[in-house]
Amino acid sequence: MVSYKDLGLVNTRAMFAKAVKGGYAIPAFNFNNMEQLQAIIKASAETKSPVILQISKGARNYANQTLLRYMAEGAVQYAKELGWRHPQIVLHLDHGDSYELCKSCIQMGFSSVMIDGSSLPYDENVALTKKVVRYAHRYDVTVEAELGVLAGVEDEVSAEESHYTKPEEVIDFVTKTGCDSLAISIGTSHGAYKFKPEQCTRDPKTGKLVPPPLAFDVLKQIEKKLPGFPIVLHGSSSVPQEYVDIINTHGGKLPDAVGIPEEQLRKAAKSAVCKINIDSDSRLAMTAAIRKVFVEKPGEFDPRKYLGPARDEMVKLYKHKIINVLGSDGKAK
Ligand code: G3H
Ligand code: 13P
Ligand code: ZN
Repeated sequence: MVSYKDLGLVNTRAMFAKAVKGGYAIPAFNFNNMEQLQAIIKASAETKSPVILQISKGARNYANQTLLRYMAEGAVQYAKELGWRHPQIVLHLDHGDSYELCKSCIQMGFSSVMIDGSSLPYDENVALTKKVVRYAHRYDVTVEAELGVLAGVEDEVSAEESHYTKPEEVIDFVTKTGCDSLAISIGTSHGAYKFKPEQCTRDPKTGKLVPPPLAFDVLKQIEKKLPGFPIVLHGSSSVPQEYVDIINTHGGKLPDAVGIPEEQLRKAAKSAVCKINIDSDSRLAMTAAIRKVFVEKPGEFDPRKYLGPARDEMVKLYKHKIINVLGSDGKAK
């Protein structure tokens, strides 16, 4: 058993309480490789922003759980080396789908886990979440749960359409499970195609899709039921059209990719939403930068020459999110 405290990591409790009060949100960035992790830590250290490093089940399978764990431990030291005296870094399991997976992550030094029982019938979601919370709290590890289903694919959790979180269920769910934060469904979804073209309007000037607004009325009702309780938004990439255009003009094919407009995320960050999950935007930044090098310098075959620019682009992206969207800069000095 490795305690996250010995690795210099923190759980989400104090971080979320401060964020809800302060009207900003903590970035939760997924990582699967060294370049993403370096970029996340560099951006967080340079902006002094608390940060949540997320590892999905898929990331664990891709990169090896032990290696990822040591990378996260190294990330704390790297942050200090960059001059961040008191780094506030959470290591979080994204979309945990079983008690065993959550337990294994807690034993490996994770400071926070998500148990995603959102596809289960309500009572089963309650029972599973409660079991994970009981185990996690023994080690002061915080637990994120989910109520309501996002459209699209959530690791192995899938749903044809979005089912908004029912505000009338949240008090019962939080009380029965003892979870520390709650992921809700208000119209976001995972990936680079968050809305079908028929759900959007088209900007006549650019021809780009303009997505429908999020269900802020549902968020408001949830906040009323659970005053001050930390709320989480998954599927919150904005799918920057500059990246989509670079990808499409450099051999890629992402037609009609669309995300959540940043002004909606800014509005959410000022509410009880205190954790905003972003993965796809980082994938797009990386892919755009790599495709550009491949087209412009076809003779290049040193991975550092295309992964380096990809890493620089991700640093730019993460800093932009922290400073201009979530408002978490300067909150972890
Ligand atoms: O919620 C999904 C995250 O973007 C992780 O995706 O399962 O492909 O690692 P992944
Ligand atoms: P995006 O696909 O919008 O980046 O969402 C990521 C996410 O919710 C990870 O849990
Ligand atoms: Zn998610």
